[in-house]
Amino acid sequence: MFKFCVLINWNIVWVTCFFFAQKSIVHAGINEGALSTVDYIRRDGYPLEIYSNITTEDGYLLDIHRIPHGKSQKKRRSQNPVLLVHGLFRSSQDWVFMGAERGLAYLLADRGYDVWLMNVRGSVYSKKHLTMNPDLDPKFWAFSWHEVGLYDLPTAFELIRNVTKRERFCYIGVSEGTTYLYVLTSLKPEYNRNITIAIDLGPIVHLIPTNNTLVKYGSVTEPLWTPLMRFFGLHEGSKIVRILQFLQNLLCTREGIFRILCDIGIFLATGGLNPAYLNKALIPVILEIGGSGSLLEVQHFAQNVNDADFRQFDFGREINLKKYGSVKPPSYNLTKVTSPHAIFYSDGDLIATTADAETLCARIPNCVYKHKIPSRNFSHFDFVLAENVLSLVYEKVFYLLDKYDDLSNK
Ligand SMILES: *[C@@H]1O[C@H](CO)[C@@H](O)[C@H](O)[C@H]1NC(C)=O
Ligand SMILES: *[C@@H]1O[C@H](CO)[C@@H](O)[C@H](O)[C@H]1NC(C)=O
Ligand SMILES: *[C@@H]1O[C@H](CO)[C@@H](O)[C@H](O)[C@H]1NC(C)=O
Ligand SMILES: *[C@@H]1O[C@H](CO)[C@@H](O)[C@H](O)[C@H]1NC(C)=O
Ligand SMILES: *[C@@H]1O[C@H](CO)[C@@H](O)[C@H](O)[C@H]1NC(C)=O
Ligand SMILES: *[C@@H]1O[C@H](CO)[C@@H](O)[C@H](O)[C@H]1NC(C)=O
Repeated sequence: MFKFCVLINWNIVWVTCFFFAQKSIVHAGINEGALSTVDYIRRDGYPLEIYSNITTEDGYLLDIHRIPHGKSQKKRRSQNPVLLVHGLFRSSQDWVFMGAERGLAYLLADRGYDVWLMNVRGSVYSKKHLTMNPDLDPKFWAFSWHEVGLYDLPTAFELIRNVTKRERFCYIGVSEGTTYLYVLTSLKPEYNRNITIAIDLGPIVHLIPTNNTLVKYGSVTEPLWTPLMRFFGLHEGSKIVRILQFLQNLLCTREGIFRILCDIGIFLATGGLNPAYLNKALIPVILEIGGSGSLLEVQHFAQNVNDADFRQFDFGREINLKKYGSVKPPSYNLTKVTSPHAIFYSDGDLIATTADAETLCARIPNCVYKHKIPSRNFSHFDFVLAENVLSLVYEKVFYLLDKYDDLSNK
């Protein structure tokens, strides 16, 4: 019984902290200033195209944003589009809300790139389906990053091809945004040909049991998640978000012990985020930007942490046998990921760890570049948030895009 209570407690702590991570960083009470992706791009004076209700094979409706060029209309000689893909519970906002000086979408557009911004199923702009209502139908949320990779990415590629007549793209993913592409190109290797280069910022693929206490112990409780989610009816992102919002307000808006608990949660959940690198002016904006997604995405990661393997969703023995023809779910075969990958990671990132990134690079056949950010202060969220992200990361991204983009056009 005691063990069970400890497990439940860890589970609650873990999920709560995860929420803090995605609601991100500091304290509630300053909720103003956040805009939608569309409003940011208009405010900042960049050209914008919106592709609404792009339909996936399994009926999800996606909104995809495009910044076709920078303010100056300068175009690159080769015009391979760049697709930017956000992480867990996030959206295309992550590439613009940092403003023109550090928003990667703007920086690329100003360098003459044709920039496409993904919004995966279940995220705030793509929370819709041909037949299922996300608020009423739990089945809407029955997906993990597996389905995003398998269905959403090809749909986005097809859209880009339809609009631009280009068949090869640069792919930049952050965090879970990297996972989707590994799913797709391992299961459908023909898509490797469509990727000129994939840039992985803090990739989450090869999950060696980490030293992040929360990830480690949170994952141990994974077998309890399915019954708990069923019992509480928590299949969808939004319901649990409401409950956690309550907890966040309780802890993070007060002083004393509450505030300390809140800080500890944030620190652990973000893998030790260093406030020194955070632009404080963005705090209210980051806070306001909510998020949405399926809890199964988190559960799928937890299963992978427990198994120390990158494999498909574990539905339990019976369904596995029916679905996969085996008791254990099959692993994704990383040998089939033949497109060139560039991997960025940091010792300060306790979620996508150095050990994981290096193992990943060694296991894929075409790891063309690997770069450890030379700062222990650089955490998982700093690939978007850090004040010095331009010099630490993006300058190298531009160099790589240039190099591989040109290669593909010789
Ligand atoms: C997209 O689909 C949603 C839900 O079906 C609908 O409310 C919305 O009007 C559609 N948007 C456009 C631009 O067609
Ligand atoms: C791309 O164009 C084809 C042919 O017109 C169309 O059938 C398909 O639905 C389009 N796909 C997307 C994602 O726009
Ligand atoms: C992917 O590449 C193949 C081979 O070059 C091409 O036939 C196909 O149209 C491309 N797919 C997309 C979505 O661009
Ligand atoms: C965990 O920490 C230990 C001791 O600091 C270190 O030797 C080990 O490599 C770390 N493991 C990972 C996966 O980072
Ligand atoms: C993984 O893919 C490689 C290359 O296609 C193949 O040689 C190997 O047999 C596959 N491994 C498994 C376990 O299927
Ligand atoms: C890391 O942050 C601390 C302050 O928190 C600062 O003193 C130190 O110089 C930073 N280190 C690097 C490598 O940026």
